[in-house]
Amino acid sequence: MPLIVWDSPLKTPPPCCIFLAMESRGGRIPGLLFHRPVGILPRSMDALLDIRNLEVRLALREGVVRAVNGVCLQLSPRRTLGLVGESGCGKSMAAKAILRILPPRGSIASGEIWLAPREADGSPVDLAQLPANGKAMRRIRGSDISMIFQEPMSSLSPVHTAGNQIAEAVRLHQSVTRAQAIDRAVEMLGLAGVPHPEQRVNAYSHELSGGLRQRVMIAMALCCRPRLLIADEPTTALDVTVQGQILTLIRRLQQEFSMAVLMITHDMGVVAETADEVAVMYLGRIAEHAPNAALFARPRHPYTVGLLESVPRLGQDRTKRLHAIPGHVPGPFEVIAGCPFHPRCSQRIKGVCDTGEAPKLREFEAGHHVACHLYPAKEGAA
Ligand SMILES: Nc1ncnc2c1ncn2[C@@H]1O[C@H](COP(=O)(O)OP(=O)(O)OP(=O)(O)O)[C@@H](O)[C@H]1O
Ligand code: SF4
Ligand SMILES: [Mg+2]
Repeated sequence: MPLIVWDSPLKTPPPCCIFLAMESRGGRIPGLLFHRPVGILPRSMDALLDIRNLEVRLALREGVVRAVNGVCLQLSPRRTLGLVGESGCGKSMAAKAILRILPPRGSIASGEIWLAPREADGSPVDLAQLPANGKAMRRIRGSDISMIFQEPMSSLSPVHTAGNQIAEAVRLHQSVTRAQAIDRAVEMLGLAGVPHPEQRVNAYSHELSGGLRQRVMIAMALCCRPRLLIADEPTTALDVTVQGQILTLIRRLQQEFSMAVLMITHDMGVVAETADEVAVMYLGRIAEHAPNAALFARPRHPYTVGLLESVPRLGQDRTKRLHAIPGHVPGPFEVIAGCPFHPRCSQRIKGVCDTGEAPKLREFEAGHHVACHLYPAKEGAA
């Protein structure tokens, strides 16, 4: 019988996972000592990031905000996952939890965020268990996972040149000289489509247009070739032509760097154009998750249907009023029994939807998951 020491206080590895971990470390060792929770491996070894039952809480003076409620998501290399939902539904909090940059009163209450190793013989790491400001997490931020934010003006330093900010990010993760880091900044600005990068490297953010500032942000986020890019509303502050250019740029760099992208937006058009699969969030939960084509062709959750019906379309009868989902997103401290969407849902079933637990996300058709009592799990699905 092998000796197994498990020193992670929060996790008890199931026996099959211990066996898997032993296998992955070279076979049947009679005595084995674990000092890290390497024993629980992600469900799919193809996944770059595997988020399981993530719960994020914000402990405010007025009460506790359950910003993210049991979210499960997987991101695969080179794929784009679109995360959509109305304002306040927890998209940014989920993203910040991955990078461990939650606001001071925010914390991960439970759940796991598994990041696959860079090397084939490495072990996955649960980001939720790492100290937010520890060395390991600082190394992962920027070099493995990067984020670009909605408003580049407030994300860039007004007192440092674009080149200095990119060079600083490079030197944080790579042992290069300052001159080499500046050269890398010029190269990245060029890749991000900034014209005359050797001159713009010396520009301050107030000297750049909104589109150029966002390109600088992208150059900074990608300078260490991360495996995952989180783009949180990267085009919301831009006009529609620049928006198209930035989305094309992200797609091109994604292919060039073989990155996974988590595209966060409330714009269904952006998601339709960029994502391979889409997760729709409502009140901190995933309401529906499906491949892009299936979600747009056959949306199932009444909330997704409402979101899609509220998008204006070319050729639409202009005398008709645009559909709007009735009601509003409940306040952050409101507790809703049953399905969180039931107060706004035209298909709610009295006595079913408004009571008990929220419906679980279940696989209704192959790859198409819905959290709604109208869609029972397909046979054989969990
Ligand atoms: N710094 C903060 N302090 C207190 N509450 C916050 C903070 N940031 C977010 N929240 C709350 O957490 C919940 C989730 O917010 P989050 O920012 O994740 O929403 P979102 O889906 O990204 O919305 P948006 O589309 O407007 O960016 C909301 O109820 C919001 O009010
Ligand atoms: S569970 Fe009921 S209330 Fe919720 S979305 Fe489905 S039908 Fe509507
Ligand atoms: Mg947000």
